[in-house]
Amino acid sequence: MKHLIDPTDLSREETEEIVDLALDIISDRKKYAHACDGKKLATLFYEPSTRTRLSFTAAMMELGGNVLGFSDAQNSSVSKGETCADTTKVINCFADIIAMRHFEEGAALVSAMNSKIPVINAGDGSHAHPTQTLTDLLTIKREIGRFDNITIGFCGDLRFGRTVHSLIKALSRYEAVNVVLIAPEQLRLPDYMKHEVCDLNGVPYREVDTLEEVMPELDVLYMTRVQKERFLDEDDYDRVKDCFVLDAEKLKTAKPEMRILHPLPRVNEITVDVDADPRAAYFRQVENGKFVRMALILKLLEWADREDKNTVLVPEDAVADEYTCSNRRCISNMEPGVKSLFRPATDKPGTYRCVYCESKPK
Ligand code: NCD
Repeated sequence: MKHLIDPTDLSREETEEIVDLALDIISDRKKYAHACDGKKLATLFYEPSTRTRLSFTAAMMELGGNVLGFSDAQNSSVSKGETCADTTKVINCFADIIAMRHFEEGAALVSAMNSKIPVINAGDGSHAHPTQTLTDLLTIKREIGRFDNITIGFCGDLRFGRTVHSLIKALSRYEAVNVVLIAPEQLRLPDYMKHEVCDLNGVPYREVDTLEEVMPELDVLYMTRVQKERFLDEDDYDRVKDCFVLDAEKLKTAKPEMRILHPLPRVNEITVDVDADPRAAYFRQVENGKFVRMALILKLLEWADREDKNTVLVPEDAVADEYTCSNRRCISNMEPGVKSLFRPATDKPGTYRCVYCESKPK
């Protein structure tokens, strides 16, 4: 069975199969109108969401299936202290597939470890957001036509932005992808992303201080919101919240075929005068999210009984209960009964990274 917890749970070929299926759905929606008749998707959302939850719901409805779940954990048994593992086992009795969003890093992985039905990570803390990545890839495919040979600028909150981490991972499997990182000091890309993802896959990246200096060379500009909810200190948030704002003036030096992506919601990082520019692809991107989730649901349900389609949830060389995770938002520090799991880091021999959230041991 396949789960989708991290974008690399799908091979490059499987990822492209899903993107191609989404393109086929777009070209002939009627063909898929009954593809999920009698199937149920459970959406378990412990953290606010508009696009992701509603696009999962719309996707399943357009496939002829049904949706159940919660969008506010306070209305579920979670408020009584039920663990993610137990909630998953319960939902297994009611649904065929799960989409889970959680504020704790590693929550979707814990859910998958306790599930006999496919689990989709719809965002776990600041860690990963693989279905946004599929959305971004479909958008790049439709707008730019290729994944190889692109220069992509990531701007804003590269530290907490899970969509950024997941998209860089997915693009690291393509040729000649150049990454430009545009972020204030406090919101730079985490080290594990730079070393284990970029360096080890030969993805060149550079950090710059302004949008202006890179604008003319970009094929894609991926804007992000500064994630207020991930800051432990409000003053820290206030210091960086207005750091990078894209407006029509700054776009003047951009290529005519450049595309602006944003996972949304936006706060103030793109001014509304940019929306009318044909290069602004972020609202088209939202619709792509529904189509790609339709394709993902279909594929995961098709692969659910296949023995050759297995997600490796815990690497073979992982060690259990030897270290404690340094990340206090990691599920291994939050939920009783979740054992700590660390795998050897590939960039530095002799060091370890948390299997749930990629952080170092304490
Ligand atoms: C993003 C998320 O939730 O990570 N949004 C989304 O899924 N469309 C980005 C964000 O919240 O800023």
